[in-house]
Parts: sequence; C-alpha cells; structure tokens
Amino acid sequence: MPVTVVVGTQWGDEGKGKVIDLLAGEADWVVRYQGGGNAGHTVKVGDRQYVLHLVPSGVLHDGKTCVIGNGVVVDPEVLVEEVDDLASKGRSLDGRLFVSDLAHVTLPYHRRMDEAHEAKRGAGKIGTTHRGIGPTYADKFGRVGIRMGDLLDPDVFLRKVRRNLEEKDYLFRNFYNVEPVTIGEIEASYRKYMPRLGPMIADTVPMLRDAVAQGRRVLLEGAQGTLLDVDFGTYPYVTASNPTVGGALTGSGLPAMAVTGCVGVAKAYTTRVGAGPLPTALPDEEDEKLRVLGREYGATTGRARRTGWFDAVAVRRAVAVNGPTDLAVTKLDILDTMDRIQVCVAYEYKGRKLVEFPNSIEVVENVKPVYREFPGWKQPTTGARRWDDLPGRAKEYLEGLSGLVGVPVTIVSVGPERNETIRVRV
Ligand code: GDP
Ligand code: IMO
Ligand code: MG
Repeated sequence: MPVTVVVGTQWGDEGKGKVIDLLAGEADWVVRYQGGGNAGHTVKVGDRQYVLHLVPSGVLHDGKTCVIGNGVVVDPEVLVEEVDDLASKGRSLDGRLFVSDLAHVTLPYHRRMDEAHEAKRGAGKIGTTHRGIGPTYADKFGRVGIRMGDLLDPDVFLRKVRRNLEEKDYLFRNFYNVEPVTIGEIEASYRKYMPRLGPMIADTVPMLRDAVAQGRRVLLEGAQGTLLDVDFGTYPYVTASNPTVGGALTGSGLPAMAVTGCVGVAKAYTTRVGAGPLPTALPDEEDEKLRVLGREYGATTGRARRTGWFDAVAVRRAVAVNGPTDLAVTKLDILDTMDRIQVCVAYEYKGRKLVEFPNSIEVVENVKPVYREFPGWKQPTTGARRWDDLPGRAKEYLEGLSGLVGVPVTIVSVGPERNETIRVRV
C-alpha cells in the first residue's frame, strides 16, 4: 500500500469511490489529484449514501487526512457546500482537509463559459458536466488562472479577477451572447466562503513528502477514467485533465519513485455519459435494461449513462498507460441475471482486426467489436465475501477479464456497500 494510485480504466464511474473508501480503511492519507466538481464518487456506508465531488473518498473513515492536490480545479462554493453537508451528517473535516495553494480556482465565469461553449458547439457538443472544468484548465495553461493561494489576499484575488473579466466580458457579450459575470457577484461569494476555506489552504507538497518519509500509507484518488484522459482518451470527447497515473504525480507533487502500486478500477461492463464513441454500446432495448439494472444515472448530473459490454481493447489501453498492479472489478452483481455475457476482445475496422485501441476518433467511431461469449452464472453474487463463494462461471468470467487485460483481479465488488467486497489473494 505505501503509495497507491487508484485510477479509472474506462470512461469514468467505474466505482472508484467505493474502492477508495474500501482501501482508505488501511490508509493514512487520501489525495485527490485531478478533475474537479465534475467527479461524482459514490460511497455507501450502512444505509447512508454519500456522493463526493471534491472531497477525497477517504473522508468516511475517521482520522484520515484528506488532501485536494494541486492538479485539482476547485470551485470554492462547491467545496464549502460539500464540507458543510458532510459536517451536518456527522463527518467533520475540521483540521483534516487540506487544499493545495497551487490548485486552480473555478469561478462563476468558468461555469458560464462551459455552458456557453457547449451551447455554441450545438450538435457537436462534448456533453460536459457544466462544472467549468475545461475553462478552468484552459486558464491554467493559458497562464491567467487564479490559484487557491491567491484567495488568501483579497487585493491580489480581486485584481486578478478584474484583469480576467476584461477578456471574459468581451467574449460573453460579443461571441457567446450571454450575460457576463460581474465582479460584484464574485466578491460577494468570496466574502462568504473565505472564512471557511482559508484555514484549509496549505502547501501540501512538504506535507506529503513528510508523510511518505514517515512511512505513512497514501492513496492517490483519480477522477474520471483513462478513456476520458485529455491525452489518451477519445479526444475531443474527453475531460480537460489527466486522470491517468501521470496525473497522479503532477497533480500531487509526489515523485514517481514514491509510487508503489496502482489499482485499476473496471466495471464488469462499460458505461459512458456525455458524447463520444462507445464501441461496445448495446442496442436501445438492452441498453435500457442494463441501465435500469445497474442504476446507471450520473452521480453529478443525473444524466442517463449509456451502457455496453466490457471492452478489453479499451481497458488494455488503460493498462498500458497506467501499469496497474491490481485490477478491481466492480458491479459484478449487476450481471447476475444474464444468460450470456459478451466481452469485446478486438475491433474490426475496414476488414482488419485491431487489437490496440485506435487513437483516431474517426476510427473508434466506426469499429465493430469482436466478442467472446461467456455463459452467465444466473445466481446472486451480492452475498459472496470470499473468492470461493462465487459461482464457477463468475470466477471464469473474472479470470477471463484478467487474462484479456493482463492484470490480476485482487478486488471484486458485488454491491455498493463497503463490505460487499471480495479481496482476492493472488
Ligand atoms: P465513481 O465515479 O468511479 O466513483 O463511480 P460512481 O459513484 O459515479 O458510480 C458507481 C455506482 O455504482 C455508484 O452508485 C456506486 O454506489 C455503485 N457501485 C459501486 N460498486 C458496486 C457494486 O459492486 N455493485 C453495485 N450494485 N453497485 C456498485
Ligand atoms: P467520475 O470521477 C463519467 C465526462 C462528461 C463529458 C466529458 C467532459 O465520477 O468518474 P467535463 O465536465 O469533465 O468537461 O466533461 O467527461 N465526465 C465524466 N464521466 N464520470 C466522471 O467522473 C466524469 N467527469 C466528466 O460527461 O462527457
Ligand atoms: Mg462518478
């Protein structure tokens, strides 16, 4: 465990929150390293369900230190609301949540820009979460971003906001034809959240360095998934950050050699929310069935997720990029009633067989999956707690997935709750 990255191997919503919560029981620190309020990580403890957007999914264990790393884009309004909501449910974060002073701030103009930009794209829209993620990262790389550290001095903060508003105003009025955001509304909200947020802002680099030096166990929590990665995903239908393992380094400030393990999280089938190709997408009727069975509705936006069979070509791409030491397969129970289960082992494109995930979106949009069929086990798995409790055909399915992607399955999730899990010794 010492430093383990947990990363999504598909298009997000793989069940990372559940896996992080599980592993957090054995960790000391949990660090979010990229993305922002676009993430929706569900953790179920007892009869309570929590959906976390910015706060690391280790928060439901008392005494764990939580860090929002420099690679995350933080919407202060969302963060404060989330922290207060957790406190009202008896999960206080006082003194154990730190936000990197290097993390970039999502402001109301980023959210409005996200929406306006999507509207402008019309039919070609990405289907973003409208959380201002792309525009915040664009400002970061355009070197006009505002960082959490800037919030500590109102003069610095407001000066930088005013500078940025000049250009944003022009765009809102003249290009997007929407109402611009005013300095007044930004300042009013700033005055409200700062007393709560101020004490959390810190230089988290030395904190993490010292934690690792002292042998503390650190979990690095990814958001989204590898196929949504701005470099390795189905560009342009991706998010604006690197959910992959490289992002865990640049987004936390921990050195590469500190990382000792990586858990790739994969759903036993595939889902995708937002636009962009999904090669194993099910036909409408079956899609609806699996969506209802798996309750596949976005944790952040409530949108219906498209569903498909497990895509080993896509997950192999995630394995190549992240090098997971372990695979966590989630939602196995959702397949319990299936007669037959398909797994995509290759793609066919213009009469050729492809075993590598294609980088060209035009190719991905036109591939035909080549399936291997597995017989269903037709028995409930939710009660299973050990490998040997699983039906033989479920074990064959998991072994099949493991063989196809080349990573041992060490965690099997058979229900949303923390204890509905099998730890597999390999
Ligand atoms: P994340 O974004 O990767 O953390 O995943 P989400 O929380 O967005 O979506 C995963 C959904 O599946 C959540 O509603 C979880 O509670 C649920 N879930 C996770 N693991 C399992 C499982 O093994 N079985 C079932 N039935 N639900 C699960
Ligand atoms: P978690 O962490 C699934 C998708 C959006 C859209 C694209 C770009 O819960 O797995 P953005 O708002 O990031 O600019 O949207 O990425 N997307 C996600 N899909 N899970 C997520 O997070 C996602 N975060 C963003 O639907 O297609
Ligand atoms: Mg999610």
